[in-house]
Amino acid sequence: VTRPIQAAFAGVSVDVASARALPRAAYAERDVFEAELDQVFRRGWLPVARVSEVAKPGDYRSVDPCGVPLVVTRDGAGAIHVLSRVCRHRGMPIVEGAGNAESLTCPYHRWRYRLDGRLAAASAMERSEAFDQASCALPPIAAAAWRGWVFANLDGRAAPLAPQLAALDDRLAELDPSRMVTAGVIEFDSPWNWKVMVENFLESYHHIGPHSQTLQLSNPGLGTYEGGGGDLYTILENPPIDGEHAHLLVAAVFPLTLMAFTEGPEPLGVWYEFDRIEHQSFKLRIHLLTSEAFAAVPAFVARYRDAVTAVHLEDIPACEGVQRGVLSPLYEPGPLSHLEAAAWRFHRFLRRQLIRPGLGH
Ligand code: FES
Ligand SMILES: [Fe+2]
Repeated sequence: VTRPIQAAFAGVSVDVASARALPRAAYAERDVFEAELDQVFRRGWLPVARVSEVAKPGDYRSVDPCGVPLVVTRDGAGAIHVLSRVCRHRGMPIVEGAGNAESLTCPYHRWRYRLDGRLAAASAMERSEAFDQASCALPPIAAAAWRGWVFANLDGRAAPLAPQLAALDDRLAELDPSRMVTAGVIEFDSPWNWKVMVENFLESYHHIGPHSQTLQLSNPGLGTYEGGGGDLYTILENPPIDGEHAHLLVAAVFPLTLMAFTEGPEPLGVWYEFDRIEHQSFKLRIHLLTSEAFAAVPAFVARYRDAVTAVHLEDIPACEGVQRGVLSPLYEPGPLSHLEAAAWRFHRFLRRQLIRPGLGH
């Protein structure tokens, strides 16, 4: 464990009462980001699609969460695959975006792959002695489905996901996100470190700040609390101000799966998806989740989109500001409130992943 990683995470406290924000090194040091790629993202379970986004045979969806181009497919027999989408010829990503196709053809020299990753055809390779069609399949990535998400584990060595999420699964049983579909997606370029976004999502203390005219009026920040948490997840409860408003449930599966649900008469949720994570930026895709019936009502979806957009527009200055602030050489990490217990739990997770006991510590 290198010095910047020690400096960034060794100080994460064992209890929330003595917890502080992460120091500058956690955000500023390139070494920390490289370690996160290797030890947090490669080793963890990353969300790569909603099951409903690859509902039909032939559906595919490209994602690139962290420098590893992937494609999620559903083959003709109905099985879901997560594959590297780096062409086995010269490395071109074989597809971008989402769609439906019988096979996937690399745009560069037209090598064609089946939806399960096997190479179906490649022209003008008959004189090559190095070419062996059977060994040119797209590498499969370990995958798991949970509550309507498809997750992928890049190094293939993560413990099974669902057993680690039992308490969160119980909490979500009534809402059942697996019945929700993506009614729309809102994209934002996000020029700040990915952890700034996770931390922002995992505390509602700031309802009294940027959301004073929105969320604070329905789910007051000072009434929020962490309702449960484990090694791999946290649950942040946001009770409503009165009987006229709905309870807001915020949760995360570490490191990257951020979700929130409104427990009102209409099934409403969001998934904050990270794509193209770089050291100091990423693409945020907010998925609007609701039932199939509500997703089919354009006016309803438009209203929901506006409400979710308004809240995120309030979060942008906060994230931009924090990004500038934590990179200042004069920044000193301050103490966390009990209202930030879920964010502290995220820091504990990072510490475990990045500083392995017995390795120079
Ligand atoms: S790089 Fe894909 S066919 Fe050449
Ligand atoms: Fe916020």
